[in-house]
Amino acid sequence: MRDIYCGQVTREFLGRTVTLCGWVAKRRDLGGLIFIDLRDREGTVQAVFDPDEKTAHEAAAELRNEYCVRLTGEVRPRPEDQVKHDRATGEVEIYVRSLEILNRSAPLPLDLNQEANAEDLRLKYRYLDLRRPEMLRRLRTRSRITSIVRSFLDGHGFLDMETPMLGKPTPEGARDYLVPSRIHHGKFYALPQSPQLYKQLLMMAGFDRYYQIVKCFRDEDLRADRQPEFTQVDIETSFLRPESLRSLMEEMIRGLWKEILKVDLPSFPVMTWDEAMGRFGSDKPDLRIPLEFTELADLFRESAFSVFRDAAVSPASRVAALRIPGGATLTRKQIDQHTAYVKSLGAGGLVWMKVNRLPEGAAPEIQSPALKFLSEEEIQGILSRTGAGEGDIIYFGAGAFSTVCASLGALRLKVAGELNLRTSDWAPLWVVDFPMFEETPEAGISAMHHPFTAPRGVTPEELEKEPMKAYADAYDMVINGYEVGGGSVRIHREEMQQAVFRILGISPEQQREKFGFLLDALKYGAPPHAGLAFGLDRLTMLLTGTDNIRDVIAFPKTTAASCLMTGAPGHAPEESLAELAISSLDQEDDIQTP
Ligand code: AMO
Repeated sequence: MRDIYCGQVTREFLGRTVTLCGWVAKRRDLGGLIFIDLRDREGTVQAVFDPDEKTAHEAAAELRNEYCVRLTGEVRPRPEDQVKHDRATGEVEIYVRSLEILNRSAPLPLDLNQEANAEDLRLKYRYLDLRRPEMLRRLRTRSRITSIVRSFLDGHGFLDMETPMLGKPTPEGARDYLVPSRIHHGKFYALPQSPQLYKQLLMMAGFDRYYQIVKCFRDEDLRADRQPEFTQVDIETSFLRPESLRSLMEEMIRGLWKEILKVDLPSFPVMTWDEAMGRFGSDKPDLRIPLEFTELADLFRESAFSVFRDAAVSPASRVAALRIPGGATLTRKQIDQHTAYVKSLGAGGLVWMKVNRLPEGAAPEIQSPALKFLSEEEIQGILSRTGAGEGDIIYFGAGAFSTVCASLGALRLKVAGELNLRTSDWAPLWVVDFPMFEETPEAGISAMHHPFTAPRGVTPEELEKEPMKAYADAYDMVINGYEVGGGSVRIHREEMQQAVFRILGISPEQQREKFGFLLDALKYGAPPHAGLAFGLDRLTMLLTGTDNIRDVIAFPKTTAASCLMTGAPGHAPEESLAELAISSLDQEDDIQTP
């Protein structure tokens, strides 16, 4: 129907007659001449209708925004004063000889020239929202990312293999999406939280290097960087040491940044989980921010300040300080807001200490609501440990290790944003040596990565004796505070796998019922293997500069896991439920769409 894309009509085509198809992005009727901007996925070009071309001009009078049209005309230079240097087509216009309206458009429910349409409206009319050049740009980048990743992995001998969507649950720490079986009443398939076990079984089959760009499904609390269905670049290798796997993966990610952003990423430091939590309170530290925690517990074991003392003597607690250079300028109101913020994250409160600048010659003034509880020695200890000087503020976190890490770690990010403290554009790193297990009163012991991750340097007996002391041979890739990928060396011996299952409280019967196929496969010469998975959506977020995962997915779900465009999830017809032997439920009202 057409010769080229609108966005491709550059000065090379001057003097030629071209046929284009696209949408009317803008229309200006200057009494005599009518101008339109015609848009397709490659860009826009100006078309002009002259009253001398009577038929086309008359047809153009009817045009409105988003009409879909086909036109033929001559490529002419624009008058000197109308040249637009910000676009490839800015030097030309189409002098239209014929116009065909392929389809009319109702007035749009959202303004395509505006970023600020309400998101629920954008999601309801997603196919219109996707017409915005910004959205197109993001999804094109996503397509380039997968193409670069595929060619890298193909080039390194990885085989692209598919694994089932209808399977058995793979525990990745979230709830499963279940699919009822029509043939086996009362039984369910689980949609994969990841292809973890299948890819391990492919290693046991001898495929040696596997990859798949694959949808994963997790019914979990959603956030700005989480979707219920998301895409992984899933990878597994045999006979490769984790350091070699990491360096290969680093090369792939570096290649992405180079090709897409023309950026040479700095080399990826490797940091243990203990160090990351100690210095930044996070297992995905944003290293663009030059703020770190200082551990102070040993200063306060006998302190008169009970808030610090209690945390200092309790084994699962910590007393951490966060020095913010120049932070003494924070107002009382800002400090109150920071206090409310850490409280919302579970902290009891926020102790602070300012080192105020005083006129030349005078000693700096220490100001803190806790001053009356602290000895001179403690104050000096804090100052020398944290290196705080004039003009700084120190925030303190004292309490349960996980609460201090989560609250003061989040405050570190918030303050860095408010005071504009980020010092670089890109800060990638590997976080390694995660604890093997974590324990909460509610959930008991669970695997920190997943139950197929190998522990570092222990026998099954040693592991079972002191499971909470074991470290996993697991690694995450973190970029700018986002966990973009994670993986581990896998257990490839049956005894170790059974030991881990026992620690997790999975009985021998449950082991057989849930993972019998894996335990069987481990009996037949399973090779040492290791792998990881990248979150494609998160990589795309970073490479397109958005902090909203919905911006990089064509048809995303809301944080309530619904699709505002189709209304999914929807009711199932009574007949289908009967076939599945599911008694009809009190079905709630349909998703309210805006
Ligand atoms: P993990 O659970 O760490 O590991 O997931 C791998 C990566 O997938 C991304 N990711 C998500 N992205 C968007 N929405 C979500 N809900 C979501 N959940 C995870 C993250 C994460 O780093 N089977 C293991 C991998 C392995 O061991 O090989 C796994 O799935 O970027």
